[in-house]
Amino acid sequence: MQTPTTSKIAIIGLGNIGQVVANNLIKNNRGVIVADRNLEKAQTLAAQLGDLAQPATISDAIREADIVVVAVWFAAIKEIFYQYEALLQGKIIIDPSNPIAPNAQGGFDKIIGENESAGQINASLLPKGAKLAKALGTLGAASLANAANQQPEAAALFYATDDINIDETIEQLIRDNGFAPVRVGGLDQSIRIEVFGDLHEFGALGKTVTVAEAKTKI
Ligand SMILES: NC(=O)c1ccc[n+]([C@@H]2O[C@H](COP(=O)([O-])OP(=O)(O)OC[C@H]3O[C@@H](n4cnc5c(N)ncnc54)[C@H](OP(=O)(O)O)[C@@H]3O)[C@@H](O)[C@H]2O)c1
Repeated sequence: MQTPTTSKIAIIGLGNIGQVVANNLIKNNRGVIVADRNLEKAQTLAAQLGDLAQPATISDAIREADIVVVAVWFAAIKEIFYQYEALLQGKIIIDPSNPIAPNAQGGFDKIIGENESAGQINASLLPKGAKLAKALGTLGAASLANAANQQPEAAALFYATDDINIDETIEQLIRDNGFAPVRVGGLDQSIRIEVFGDLHEFGALGKTVTVAEAKTKI
């Protein structure tokens, strides 16, 4: 039986966030399966990361993993849920997505309703028996890399899920990324930890925080 420390993690999507998460896990001695729609990209990254990283096709990665990090843009998550629905059943899915798209001014606009969250929308599309946590998306990719394993006090990463049975697994995943986990609540709190939310680096929070600071905000 898999425990929070032995659960197998797969990352689908090897862009900014996917690569940082893979790097963070390897630095903390946690193995990871890396996958993208382009297998060569996964093979190249795995070769750079070393023996703890295993490249795979998306299907094989999902099949082998207990935890699937969907490190793709918000709109692509829906496609992945649809295309790999059978394989995703029963898996723990980590959603770092922010529901935004570039605008003509060089910034980003929210692409769903003002009071909607990607977490709640993705929860409504979830494959049968899968469990969703909103996590690993509350910092920009640069901070997710630079603030990992911060000393003397770890930086906080917020997460939200409706399933308290997966809390320990999510918290271990966050610790193995080099951060301290802080539960913000159920998925109805997702909006707070997505871009423009009050607990996001690119929202009212505006920076990385320690656990003590994080707890004053929730
Ligand atoms: N960047 C940040 O600072 C940041 C911070 C917090 C959260 N996030 C969130 O994290 C997610 C990923 O962002 P990112 O900046 O890492 O994006 P990115 O650099 O554009 O990377 C996305 C990756 O996903 C792959 N991909 C796209 N559609 C796919 C599909 N259907 N199946 C498999 N792979 C697919 C892309 O492959 P191709 O190269 O083939 O297109 C690319 O490798 C987004 O939801 C974003 O909102 C980003």
